[in-house]
Amino acid sequence: MVIANTKDVLSEARKKLLKNKIDTKEARLLLARAMNVDVGELVTIDYCSDYDYKVFLGYIERRIEGEPFAYIVGYKEFMKLNFEVNKNVLIPRDDTEVVVLEAIKQCKENILDMCTGSGCIAVSLAKYLEKSVIDASDICANALAVAKRNAKRNKVKVNFIKSDLFENITKKYDMIVSNPPYIKTSDIENLQKEVRMEPIKALNGGENGLYFYDEILKNAKKHLTQKGIILLEIGYDQARDVSLLAKKYNYKKIRKIKDLSNNDRVIYAERG
Ligand SMILES: C[S@@+](CC[C@H](N)C(=O)[O-])C[C@H]1O[C@@H](n2cnc3c(N)ncnc32)[C@H](O)[C@@H]1O
Repeated sequence: MVIANTKDVLSEARKKLLKNKIDTKEARLLLARAMNVDVGELVTIDYCSDYDYKVFLGYIERRIEGEPFAYIVGYKEFMKLNFEVNKNVLIPRDDTEVVVLEAIKQCKENILDMCTGSGCIAVSLAKYLEKSVIDASDICANALAVAKRNAKRNKVKVNFIKSDLFENITKKYDMIVSNPPYIKTSDIENLQKEVRMEPIKALNGGENGLYFYDEILKNAKKHLTQKGIILLEIGYDQARDVSLLAKKYNYKKIRKIKDLSNNDRVIYAERG
């Protein structure tokens, strides 16, 4: 049944979003999702059905409740690719593209993406480093299921391994890449509501936020080839601490790489 005028529906939704300090541009994208059409097509559609209208209102309510936009629409763009996301995975961040771009520059043959989540790093590397062999691991079976679908969705081959850090990792790699959980446990409750809707396992970096860096740097050497390197995404204020850990475990040529906002974002280190 045709009931609602799309212009009116959009205008009503924009007002609600504005009142809740949410970008009003999301209204069109959410309506297009509710109607299952491309956003560009919306200008040619004057009315929406009762059902689509209700679905759309549900999306707007969820958004106002603080649910991330990407979880509602079910996807996120990353490295010019499209990734399925749901509540089992961290939503890929633009900052993480810095790690991927550096990894592409390093252009190694055998690569492990540890703590893969949605698979955004591993799948992007498989896409842009066609000749490399890419393995990806995560402790969470539900995250790995999403990552597997993302490899299929982007038509690349990635070998997925369910593993608590290095527990089930048997190979040696030329490069290990990781964006591990790195928020201090005590900081989690102060995060934005939207971020707190993401999996706690993807956020919690332990008491000092450094638990995973310590574990990964301590154990990675056994899984790196002689000339192997490691790339770790870090929080903007963790460069010093993570560099010190790399030094403690005797890595060589340790350096930091900045993101587009000029924050330290990646630690590069060689096995040596
Ligand atoms: C910060 S998210 C990163 C996800 C993805 N690589 C990205 O950049 O968007 C961290 C991931 O680490 C995984 N994880 C947490 N503890 C782990 C562990 N002990 N071993 C392996 N993966 C773990 C979580 O399930 C989550 O998917």
